Amino acid sequence: MSLAGFERFPLLFGPSPVHPLERLSDHLGGARIWAKREDCNSGLAFGGNKTRKLEYLVPDALAQGADTLVSIGGIQSNHTRQVAAVAARLGMKAVLVQESWVDWPDAVNDKVGNILLSRVMGADIRLVRAGFGIGFKESWNQALDDVRAAGGTPYAIPAGASDHRLGGLGFANWAYEVEQQERELGVFFDTIVVCSVTGSTHAGMIAGFAGQDRPRRVLGIDASATLDATRAQVAKIARNTAELIGLGRDLRDDEITVLDGWAGDRYGIPVQSTLDAITLTGGLEGVILDPVYEGKSMAGLIDLVRGGDIPADSNVLYAHLGGQPALNAYSGVFG
Ligand SMILES: Cc1ncc(COP(=O)(O)O)c(C=O)c1O
Repeated sequence: MSLAGFERFPLLFGPSPVHPLERLSDHLGGARIWAKREDCNSGLAFGGNKTRKLEYLVPDALAQGADTLVSIGGIQSNHTRQVAAVAARLGMKAVLVQESWVDWPDAVNDKVGNILLSRVMGADIRLVRAGFGIGFKESWNQALDDVRAAGGTPYAIPAGASDHRLGGLGFANWAYEVEQQERELGVFFDTIVVCSVTGSTHAGMIAGFAGQDRPRRVLGIDASATLDATRAQVAKIARNTAELIGLGRDLRDDEITVLDGWAGDRYGIPVQSTLDAITLTGGLEGVILDPVYEGKSMAGLIDLVRGGDIPADSNVLYAHLGGQPALNAYSGVFG
C-alpha cells in the first residue's frame, strides 16, 4: 500500500509554510537556511508536529468507536496539549498522564504553558511522579483501565504518538509536501535538520524521503540525552513506516542519522548553546524556539553550518516542530 491509501483526518490549515531565514543565514555566513513551520500548521491550540501525526491516528480512533483519547508525556508536554486539542475538536474526552520527566525548579512549571492550555480545553490531567522515559508506562495502563471501568472506550496514544503503527505516516507525508513546495519555490533542500526525541517525526521523514528520486541528508538532532535509545527508536519506526507505505526496499543504516552534542546532560534542561540559539533566532528573525526541543536542534544546525559540515552551497531546511508554550515554564533562564 502507498501512503495515499491511508485515511487522513484533516487537522492542519494545509501545507505548513516554508520561508527563508535570511538574516540568520547571513549572520552565520554559510549555507542558506529555510524553515518549515509546524509551529503554525494548525488552528488547534498552536499546532505542532503531533497535530500532523494525529491526522493519521484519528481515523483509526474513530473506526474503533473510541470516545476518549488517552496519552502520556512530561508536565510541559507539547504532545499531550495537542491530544487535548484534537479530542476537543472531535468531541471526545482526553485523559492525560503527565509525569515529572524534568526536574525543573520553575515555581509555576505545572501551572503555565502547555498544561494550562490542556486544562483550558477540559482534559482530565493526572500528575504522576516518574522519570523520563518514552516507553509504555504503568500509569498509562492504569489510565486506560480507568476509562474502561467507567464504561468508556479509550484510544491509546503513546508518548509523542511515536511507538504506534501509524505514528510515522504524518511526517512521511511531510516529505511529499516538501517535494511539492520545492517545485513551487524552485529550490532543492539537500539537508533537513530535525529535532528527535520520541522518534516518529524524524523516522517518518526518513521513510518519506527515501522514496524520492533525489537523495538528501535528513539529520536528526537528539534532544533527549539518551542517544542510543533515540537512534534505535528512529530506526525501528523508520523501517516500519517504510514498509507500511510500500517503499519496496530496506532502509540503509546510513539513511538513519541521529547526531548528539546539543542535548546537554538531561532531557528538558537547556544548556548555554540552547539559550544562545533561542536568543539568536529570536533576535535576528523574530522566530521563537523553545528550550526543550527546538532550541537544541537549532543549536545543532548553527554549529553544523558554522563548522562547514553543512557546506556553504547547501540549502538547508530547518523543521520547526512547535513547542513555544513551554517557554512560559522557563521564565527564570531569560529573566
Ligand atoms: C516542539 C517539539 N519538537 C520536537 C519534538 C520531537 O519530536 P519526536 O518526539 O517525534 O521525536 C517534540 C516532541 O517530542 C516537540 O514537542
